[in-house]
Amino acid sequence: MKGVILAGGSGTRLKPLTILFNKHLLPVGPFPMIYWSIIKLRDAGISEILIITNKNHLSSFIGLLGMGEELNVNLQYKVQKNEGGGIADALLGAKPFINEEKFIVLLGDNLFEDSLISFVERFQKQEAGARLLLKEVEDPERYGVPCLDVNKNQIKFIVEKPSQPPSAFCVTGIYMYDQQVFEYIDAIHPSDRNELEITDVNNLYIKNDNLQYDILKGWWIDAGTHQSLYRANQMIFEKNKEEPE
Ligand code: TTP
Repeated sequence: MKGVILAGGSGTRLKPLTILFNKHLLPVGPFPMIYWSIIKLRDAGISEILIITNKNHLSSFIGLLGMGEELNVNLQYKVQKNEGGGIADALLGAKPFINEEKFIVLLGDNLFEDSLISFVERFQKQEAGARLLLKEVEDPERYGVPCLDVNKNQIKFIVEKPSQPPSAFCVTGIYMYDQQVFEYIDAIHPSDRNELEITDVNNLYIKNDNLQYDILKGWWIDAGTHQSLYRANQMIFEKNKEEPE
């Protein structure tokens, strides 16, 4: 299975840190943020990885990571043409890289504790469709929130940043898809904030009865704000303190 890391976007909420630097190159623990996504994929046996970022930041990623020699992975790069056009828009750029395979997508600003191994194994056994990872959070209204049918182990629908969240879970930036995703992205339209929304894509999978989910057990942080970036650093350093060198 191949992996895609999305590392574009505007990083507005992290200004002024992101005026000169791409968000995913900011420090989290001893590494630039993007290292953690690469390590999570590599540790789940995924070494063919595409990084999608903005034109102006491409040379920084290549300068830092090269072809992936240091981290023992094979990296390719792609520029998101419609900068800030949304997660689904960025993902379209992965189509030529994927060729007919199932794949996993990580938002490069998502930091998390769980290993991806068991989730990837379950997705490999899944005949087709998509698989999402959910996490229980205190502030679901900031995210895409699933309405769950717990008896059937199914998501009924996902609603983006709801004022009345239908559950205490959010859809994390860890997505597993089959080829169908590219057709679904072609079928959706830009939202009110003028982005192609991954929630619309996921709802198409639900409509076609082809979406499954798992729940993350360990900590999960979307490091897109100053506070959450600080918390991600705390989590990484606390974890490393427990492990003798
Ligand atoms: P967001 O945090 O939703 O957006 P952003 O990075 O532009 O930040 P801000 O809202 O503060 O301006 O993005 C989530 C992840 O998706 C992040 O890792 C960047 C990635 N992304 C892209 O690669 N392309 C895009 O067009 C968007 C919107 C996000």
